[in-house]
Amino acid sequence: MSERPIDTQKFDLNDPLAGLAQEYFSGLSPEIVAKAQTACLDVCQNFKGNVDLSKAILLWSQESLYHEIEQTRLAAFYAAALSQKIDWMGAKSLERLLMGCFFKDFGMMKLPAVIRGKAPAKMNPEEAALYQKHPEEGVNFLCQLSSVEEAVRHVVYQHHECVDGSGFPNHLSNIKLYPLAKVVALADFFATSIIEDKILPLEALKRFMSNRAALAKYDPDIIRSLVKVFIKNGESKKNEGARK
Ligand SMILES: [Fe+2]
Repeated sequence: MSERPIDTQKFDLNDPLAGLAQEYFSGLSPEIVAKAQTACLDVCQNFKGNVDLSKAILLWSQESLYHEIEQTRLAAFYAAALSQKIDWMGAKSLERLLMGCFFKDFGMMKLPAVIRGKAPAKMNPEEAALYQKHPEEGVNFLCQLSSVEEAVRHVVYQHHECVDGSGFPNHLSNIKLYPLAKVVALADFFATSIIEDKILPLEALKRFMSNRAALAKYDPDIIRSLVKVFIKNGESKKNEGARK
């Protein structure tokens, strides 16, 4: 992948995916990319009409490091992209999903700077315990905003939970997980893989699909949706033909 530009641009409600490298979208059809971009923009336009939400996003943008904003942008993009392949995802669910995605790491604002600059794998036990409080801190923050629905708070609270019970903060397993939170969890993981490993999306997908431990953490139906996002229309028709 090419070197990422040094970009100090903060979050812009008029251009929520600004600054993301084009490589982050490679392997996807232009239609999928355009639809996901529009979905992210539509949700952010709704924030603009709400004083509390605009202020909250502005505060988060001011308080966040660029890499945190970049990761949130890409996670929201992939949540919007793979949602196009989820049958039960209606307009209202998509709106709640993307709100949860943009708000998911608001709780990081409460954490000391030393933790925010570190990858979770490099944290000591005390730092990891603090880091794992960020979903709860995020919900505490959102509880002050009356226009944030409970569904969105569920997404924020559970965005690091995994279907095999290995996630945090509550080690919830599949049956107890909120469906939209399962979508965000996978989009979040996938975005982090692309950014942290500095690899193209198709390589991130290949590595994910060959990693049994990682696969066990996410809902199989949502994983299938992620895979379908990368199958071009022609290929899926060819595959359907081959099955007949
Ligand atoms: Fe998070």
